[in-house]
Amino acid sequence: MVTAYDYVSARVAADAGVDIVLVGDSAANTMLGYSSTRDVSLDEMIVLTAAVRRGLDTATAAGATATPLLVGDMPYGTYEPADAAAVETARRFEAVGCDAVKLEGGGASLARVRAIVAAGIPVMGHVGLLPQQAAAEALRARGRTADEALAIARDARELENAGCFAIVFEAMPAAVSALIVPTLRIPVIGIGAGSTTDGQVLVFHDLVGLTDGRTPRFVKRYAELFNEMVNAVRAFGGDVREGRYPGEEHEYRIDEAELARLSQVLGARGLGARS
Ligand code: KIV
Repeated sequence: MVTAYDYVSARVAADAGVDIVLVGDSAANTMLGYSSTRDVSLDEMIVLTAAVRRGLDTATAAGATATPLLVGDMPYGTYEPADAAAVETARRFEAVGCDAVKLEGGGASLARVRAIVAAGIPVMGHVGLLPQQAAAEALRARGRTADEALAIARDARELENAGCFAIVFEAMPAAVSALIVPTLRIPVIGIGAGSTTDGQVLVFHDLVGLTDGRTPRFVKRYAELFNEMVNAVRAFGGDVREGRYPGEEHEYRIDEAELARLSQVLGARGLGARS
């Protein structure tokens, strides 16, 4: 599973053959420059999700081997208040082409999961580090004490019983995941939760090297696209300033006779060369 937030990243994910695309609320940071995932609105998530849907559909039409499952991440404040709000939010994601939604936490979220599942929309759970609940400085691993790990295990089990079809484990000791994963029947997708989970997810921008600053310990970068992009744009600027771009091969043509007539008309109107 990877996150995607726009038409291009969705096409990349589909062409690369990933199984699940998550329009994560990490879009708050990666796409919109907010400091917390709490800041992204539902309307913003819906715009991004619709673009991802178009990207996946385009990739499929162009011959991508399989269409990834599309999961929309329900943003902070859009599902916690009541079951009705949660179902309404889930329906907005469904309306722009999501196959499922994701929400964070156990406890009060359990009733929301039940309500959304009862409305016919599959739900992915999320335990461990819950970025919507954590202040930026508290984005640290969870489950490092037996009590905290037991609470995660309980939440995961309750989310499974509430009807989640899969669950994300975020930022937990690998040894803790290894003990909890076998207690669940549903697939577990890990991010910073070791290698024993059934799948792995990374944030697209981390994976391809589009994020700057410190990345979490679990991130593996497979490319350095930010630097590549800066180099490309810098090269363009250099070419323009030095007169190397555009070249003849980038120019449109006009018939000689038409050009001569244009020149004549402009001249007659006194619109000749720049003074
Ligand atoms: O928003 C997100 O990117 C996520 C993943 C880290 C699972 O929730």
